[in-house]
Amino acid sequence: MPSADEPFSLVIFGASGDLTRRKLVPALFALYATRTLPEPFTIVAVARTEMSHEEFRRRMREAVRDHGRVQPPSEYVWERFAQALYYLPGDPKDLALYTELKAFLSDVEQRRGGPANRLFYCATPPSLYDDIVENLGNSGLAQSRNGWTRIVVEKPFGHDVESARALNRQLRRYFGEDQIYRIDHYLGKETVQNLLVLRFANQIFEPLWNRNHVAHVQITVAETIGVETRGAYYEEAGALRDMVQNHLLQLLCLIAMEPPVTFDAAPVHDEKNKVLAAIHPVALDHIDEAAVRAQYGPGFVEGRPVVGYRQEKGVAPDSRTETYVALKLLIDNWRWASVPFYLRAGKRLAKRASEIAIQFRRTPHMIFRRHPDGVEPNMLLIRIQPDEGLALTLAAKVPGPDLKLGVVKLDFKYGEVFGGQSPEAYERLLLDVIHGDATLFARGDWVELAWQILDPVLRAWARDTTSPIPVYEAGSWGPPEADAFIARDGFRWRNP
Ligand code: BG6
Repeated sequence: MPSADEPFSLVIFGASGDLTRRKLVPALFALYATRTLPEPFTIVAVARTEMSHEEFRRRMREAVRDHGRVQPPSEYVWERFAQALYYLPGDPKDLALYTELKAFLSDVEQRRGGPANRLFYCATPPSLYDDIVENLGNSGLAQSRNGWTRIVVEKPFGHDVESARALNRQLRRYFGEDQIYRIDHYLGKETVQNLLVLRFANQIFEPLWNRNHVAHVQITVAETIGVETRGAYYEEAGALRDMVQNHLLQLLCLIAMEPPVTFDAAPVHDEKNKVLAAIHPVALDHIDEAAVRAQYGPGFVEGRPVVGYRQEKGVAPDSRTETYVALKLLIDNWRWASVPFYLRAGKRLAKRASEIAIQFRRTPHMIFRRHPDGVEPNMLLIRIQPDEGLALTLAAKVPGPDLKLGVVKLDFKYGEVFGGQSPEAYERLLLDVIHGDATLFARGDWVELAWQILDPVLRAWARDTTSPIPVYEAGSWGPPEADAFIARDGFRWRNP
C-alpha cells in the first residue's frame, strides 16, 4: 500500500500526446485526489513543443476536466496537484535533453530529500523507444542510485517476433527485467483482475475448469469505434497486432493458466508463459483453418451512418489491413487438449462488449425424452466491459403442467453489488509500478512468445496479396466467413 514517505519523480516522454492527456494525467490526478498517490511526487512532462510549465498545467486542467474519472473537488486541490507538474521541452533523440533532465531531477530530489526514486514513462510513438532507452542509458539515468529506477513501455512491443526481441535486447542493455514494466491496460481492468479471484478464490470452478467439462471458450473484444484519428498507425498494425497479440492473449492466459503458487509477479508470469508455450502452432499453409480476417465497410453504428475502413483518413483506398480477426487456438496440455479457444476482436461492430464465454459440455445423457438435446448447455459468461459482471446459465423447468425446459440466468452485476465507480486501469497500473509490483504487466519473454504464436498468421496474410479481404457492414457482428469458421466445429458465436 502507499506509504507517505515514498517520494518519486515521474518523467513522461511524449507528454503532448493523447495518452498523457486522456489517460496518464487524469489517472495520476484521480490517485492524488483519492489520497492513494505516494507523496511528495514530481511529474516532469517532456515533449518537443515549446511550452511553459503554466501552459502545460492549464492544458492538463482541461484534460482532467474532459477525461478525468475524478474531478477536483476544489481549485485549491487542483492547484496543489498542479504545483508538482513541470514541463521540459526537448527532443527525446537528443542526449542534451537528458543532461538537462538529470540536473532537474537531482535538484528536485535534493530539495525534497529522501530516496531518489525515478520512473520513466515512454508514451511516445514506439519508433522513439530505442533512442529514449539509449539516451537514458548513456546519460546514466537508467542506473539506480539512492532509490529505484523503473521504465514503463507502452504497447506495441514490436510488430513481430524479431522486432520484439530487438526491443527487449535494447531495454535489457540498460535496465534489468525487474526495472521494466510493459503495460497492457487490460490487465489493470477491475474485471480482469476479478477473473483471477473468480478462478483462484473459489473452489467450485476448479473441478470443472478443464477439457472434461468445457466444450469451448470464446473471448470477444468488440468495439463500436472505428480507427478514429489513428488511421496511419492502424494501417501498419491491424486488429491482430493491435488487440490480439496483447489484450486477447493475456485474457486467454488468465483463463487457461494453472493456479500460480502465490499472486506474485514471478509465479503468475511463469504460469502464463506455460500456456503460450503449449499453444499448438498454427500451420502457415492452412491459415484459413485458424484465422479469419475482414475489414469494415460503410454502415450504421448506434444509429449513425459511418464510412468504411478504406475511406477513413490515413487509410489506403486499397488497404488490406484487417479491422476484424477471429482465431482458433488449441492448447496442447492435460487440462485443455482439444478444447478450442476462439478469439475475436473487431472495430465498428454492433456493440461495445468485451467478454469471455466458457461453454460447458452437454449432459452425457438426457432423461427428459421429449428434449433429446436438452436445452443449451451451461455457460459461464464473464463480462469485462461494459456492464461488468458474471452470469451462469442453467436449465430449469418452465412452470406448468408439461415438462418444458428453459434457460435461466444467474446474473451478478458488479455495479449493482459494489456500487460506485471502479478505478481506471491506468490508476491501478501506475500505482503498481510505483510500488514495484509487476504482477499485472507483461514480461519480456511472454511478449516474444505471443508474437511467435501469431507469426504464421502474420506471414500468411502478408504473402497473400491477392485474395479478397471479406468486408462486413459497420454495425454488424462481423463477416459471414467468421460465422462459417466457428460453425465448422459445430459452434456459433455468442453475440452479446
Ligand atoms: C488499445 C488499442 O490497446 O485498446 C485500441 O490500441 C483499442 O485500438 C483499445 O480501441 C481498446 O481499449 P478499451 O479499454 O477501450 O477496451
